[in-house]
Amino acid sequence: MPQIVSQQNVQFCVEPGGTLTGEIRVPGDKSISHRSIMLGALAEGVTEITGFLEGEDSLATLAAFRAMGVKIDGPDNGLVIIQGVGLHGLQAPGKALDLGNSGTSMRLLSGLLAGQSFDVTLTGDASLSGRPMRRVTDPLAQMGAVIETTAAGTAPLHIKGGQVLQGIHYKMPVASAQVKSCLLLAGLYAQGKTCVTEPAPTRDHTERMLASFGYPVDSNGRLACVSGGGSLSANTIEVPSDISSAAFFLVAASIAPGSELLLQKVGINPSRDGVITILRQMGANISVENQRQLGGEPVADLRVKSSTLHGIKIPVEQVPLAIDEFPVIFVAAACASGQTELTNAEELRVKESDRIQVMADGLRTLGIEATPTPDGMVVRGGQLTGGHVKSHGDHRIAMAFAVAALRASQPITIDDCANVNTSFPGFVALSRNIGLNVTIKD
Ligand code: S3P
Repeated sequence: MPQIVSQQNVQFCVEPGGTLTGEIRVPGDKSISHRSIMLGALAEGVTEITGFLEGEDSLATLAAFRAMGVKIDGPDNGLVIIQGVGLHGLQAPGKALDLGNSGTSMRLLSGLLAGQSFDVTLTGDASLSGRPMRRVTDPLAQMGAVIETTAAGTAPLHIKGGQVLQGIHYKMPVASAQVKSCLLLAGLYAQGKTCVTEPAPTRDHTERMLASFGYPVDSNGRLACVSGGGSLSANTIEVPSDISSAAFFLVAASIAPGSELLLQKVGINPSRDGVITILRQMGANISVENQRQLGGEPVADLRVKSSTLHGIKIPVEQVPLAIDEFPVIFVAAACASGQTELTNAEELRVKESDRIQVMADGLRTLGIEATPTPDGMVVRGGQLTGGHVKSHGDHRIAMAFAVAALRASQPITIDDCANVNTSFPGFVALSRNIGLNVTIKD
């Protein structure tokens, strides 16, 4: 059943131009927030989380664990307290778990739930129900899991409980942290060792967080392994700000003349920092200040000043390291001189929307030459006009086009922006505070 929220046409109306200044903290990291609930629930003892992202996606994960009998207090201003039930303490939920728009919830939970004693069904909104799930159900079946999908390999996922899982060594065909994490979480319940080899490095938050909960993970380059039968000990987690949310402002301040922003306490895990590398190669002025560790994750304050960007060929090894940032990187490319070329990014076609097609359509509406290819896009920088674009209910597309208005000659109206709340509640208020002239129209 599609979520009602994505059916409302919440529009963003953004006036052209502006200069961004200030010091801000964007909300907590979405990937880390999901994992903190999952591992906190499976740990023994009380886990305290601060900086938790109170967005719809991570709240869907939180609600799923509550429905499986885990006592969770909060979130209260980012504070969440979980009474862990141990690896074998989850209970059958009374009904299907609705994960809304959240691919991370569905793919990670499919692994975590494949080895439970009870049956469970996972559902999602229209976008999530169209996304490929065989990438997780196929390897899980090799481990002995029994999961039914639709004929198209999509949700709802019916997971049959009471199966005995066996560890496997899976060589992932696509570079996906969701697939890797799904299998490592299933591996906690499997007999023997579960190993995953990835074709290119992807975010390693699951490996880092398992280790911080005292669960041994053997990781070496592109290989990560866990053995079943261990236990997790409660932990204290401070979630860093999400670099994927910070990315909108890295681009915004880069393209808006006279801007300077300080983005505080941003996670700069090397498996997530591709946006900084790519923007710097395009000529962005970004400095990484006050680097430190927060739990097992590196964080820093990012200072960005406006600059003159130029087009580049995006290095293929940076693609998985910036996989969620391409909508706004395309906006940077539209404001750069010359041509920017992205290849090896076919995964963008199966995100919350087909981000190659949707961004190309929107940029063309705004007067930019943008040519989609099967695995990427070619964007020629130019003058953004203004007009009416569609986000297709994709949070990151909506925010990317809001940023584009900084260099447009006319206002930009963006359709279907309700899902911005999945990852970045408060985006409009925060953006207005620092100089982006955006308003919401219901
Ligand atoms: C995520 C992994 C990425 C990313 C998603 C969050 C995660 O997906 O796009 O937003 O938290 O593991 P893929 O693993 O499908 O690339």
